[in-house]
Amino acid sequence: MKAVRFTRFGGPEVLEIVDLPDRHPGPGEVRIAVCAAGVNASDWKKRQGLMDPDLPQTLGHEAAGVVDELGEGVMDVAIGDRVFGVNAEGIAQAELAVLSYYAPIPPSLDFAAAAALPAAVETATRALDQLGVGSARTVLINGASGSVGGAAVQLAVVRGARVIGTAGPANHEYLRSLGAEPVAYGEGMVERVRAFAPDGVDLALDVAGSGVLPELIELAGGAEHVITIADFGGAQEYGVRFSRGDSGRALHALGQIGELIDSGRFSLPVGQTFPLAEVAEAHRVGEQGGVRGKLVLLVG
Ligand SMILES: NC(=O)c1ccc[n+]([C@@H]2O[C@H](COP(=O)([O-])OP(=O)(O)OC[C@H]3O[C@@H](n4cnc5c(N)ncnc54)[C@H](OP(=O)(O)O)[C@@H]3O)[C@@H](O)[C@H]2O)c1
Repeated sequence: MKAVRFTRFGGPEVLEIVDLPDRHPGPGEVRIAVCAAGVNASDWKKRQGLMDPDLPQTLGHEAAGVVDELGEGVMDVAIGDRVFGVNAEGIAQAELAVLSYYAPIPPSLDFAAAAALPAAVETATRALDQLGVGSARTVLINGASGSVGGAAVQLAVVRGARVIGTAGPANHEYLRSLGAEPVAYGEGMVERVRAFAPDGVDLALDVAGSGVLPELIELAGGAEHVITIADFGGAQEYGVRFSRGDSGRALHALGQIGELIDSGRFSLPVGQTFPLAEVAEAHRVGEQGGVRGKLVLLVG
């Protein structure tokens, strides 16, 4: 099967499409013929050598496609079904992917839109769960217009929370459409948030990792009310919890998101799609920033 791989760290040019042995599903897993696979910021962080020191590395943790092989004991899907889900091995940007957790693709979604869901939905749900976001809570989301941020805004609104979100001015109307009260990030952010919430907020989620943990701690009244998913150094420095995928993944959220999508309470835009062979261009676009929505590779 063709798959994305790199054998040295560096710029997007180190990415290559190579032939790897086909994978087969273990007990409880399914294999899909991949139609689309999501691209995430962690992909270029890995490619730059900022995460995993091992080489070579493959990429991709989320994909959508058509089931073509069933692992032992799988009864809930059949060959030919459309599913999306998570590839634990990190080799989803490929022609075939084994999914350790999967759910049916909501009928209204195409493969690209389904491949955009797993990382954003799982991460947002995990962070909101760990923060204890529920009704009658005011939560500040820093970096609310991106994929994880937009998912977190909508899922917090579904829980009945009041959401204040930071974003660039071009995304303020978008945030309103998701149910959040938008404020601009940058200097003066604390005062702008206080204009909406004079007594501060109950909880704060840092999605952007933009170095504002002290401000979020001030607004939420203590480091214990703040979680970051993107500022590892700041978390250590300020005693804030860093939420990562190995700290109890909220995979159940993938099975529940279809209902929210079908009832019009959740959507996640696909910003741009690329053929698998143009994965390097997807990294360039992603690293540059400014695209609203997920970047997705189309396979086959
Ligand atoms: N720990 C985990 O488990 C985990 C899992 C998934 C992702 N992540 C991390 O989470 C981060 C976000 O991922 P994503 O997929 O949501 O990225 P994304 O879709 O590219 O969104 C990034 C957002 O950051 C916003 N932004 C840029 N500068 C900002 C600033 N100074 N203050 C506040 N917001 C700012 C942008 O908003 P505007 O366009 O409005 O300017 C943009 O919408 C990445 O660092 C990723 O590695 C962590």
